[in-house]
Amino acid sequence: MKITGETQVVGVFGDPVAHSLSPLMHGAAFEKLGLNWVYVPFHVKPQHLGSAVEGIKAMGLRGVNVTVPHKVHVMQYLDEIDPEAQLIGAVNTIVNRDGYLVGYNTDGAGFVRSLNEEGQADPAGKNILLLGAGGAALAIGAALARAGAKRVSIANRTVQKAAAMAQAISDFVDSEPFDSEALPLDQDDPQFQQAAEQADIVVQCTSVGMYPHHDVPPIVSPDLFRPHALVADIVYVPRETSMIRAARARGCSVLTGEGMLAYQGAIALELWTGMPAPAAEMLSTLRRHLTPV
Ligand code: ATR
Repeated sequence: MKITGETQVVGVFGDPVAHSLSPLMHGAAFEKLGLNWVYVPFHVKPQHLGSAVEGIKAMGLRGVNVTVPHKVHVMQYLDEIDPEAQLIGAVNTIVNRDGYLVGYNTDGAGFVRSLNEEGQADPAGKNILLLGAGGAALAIGAALARAGAKRVSIANRTVQKAAAMAQAISDFVDSEPFDSEALPLDQDDPQFQQAAEQADIVVQCTSVGMYPHHDVPPIVSPDLFRPHALVADIVYVPRETSMIRAARARGCSVLTGEGMLAYQGAIALELWTGMPAPAAEMLSTLRRHLTPV
């Protein structure tokens, strides 16, 4: 690509940032769309976060992604926070609307789009089981509830965290009929077994199975799930986690984690440009560059 006087700039703020695949993914998308835009990695240290955000306005960046460790702290510097990002308590995308900065979190919507487009599944009216109650689980649970899920059951090692999350998601959707519940993440627990047996969609939202600690059994046995359930894992290195392999062996349909990564980027790009993102291009670029394990 050629940088000209009219090139529009977006990017990512992170510390570290050199490992980020987003510049390649968004670069491929801009090329496909024929847009004179560039996506730049910005290595922003925590002590400079406030001035870096000021810099978005000062230098007319169209927006940025925000990654570790800035997703929470960046919120204080923004003019407005989207309600879903407010609920999650973290921002991964900033849009510069003529000097007015709005923070979004596209992770949950990214998961739902991956579920729709790659998994060919609609969460509306479905029973969902989330394994884990961290930030990723909250983003996914809120987005699934907003997409019309009938029930979101949250199973976590620390049940109190699942209970707080179940309540937060219920308050967020505030629509009938919607149900949420908290469970122990324990395959010997009858309540967990019942939720596992009833789930149409199961999402593994913990870091268990992530490289380099990938040589572990699935966090719970997929033998507890319906053979026709859809099982998703948010871990994307390795592409095929032990959960994905075991769920496939059970006969379940499976959804690997890199789709969520590609689609959260696609939604960010749509917020910045107002154009439909070439999501297939973004996903294939990501797949080409992810570390094979
Ligand atoms: P993230 O923001 O990426 O979701 P997080 O907030 O640290 O990360 O949450 C990690 C999730 O993985 C939590 O649900 C955590 O369970 P606890 O709340 O009980 O800590 C879960 N988790 C991590 N390691 C786990 C393990 N070995 N067994 C079970 N759950 C685990």
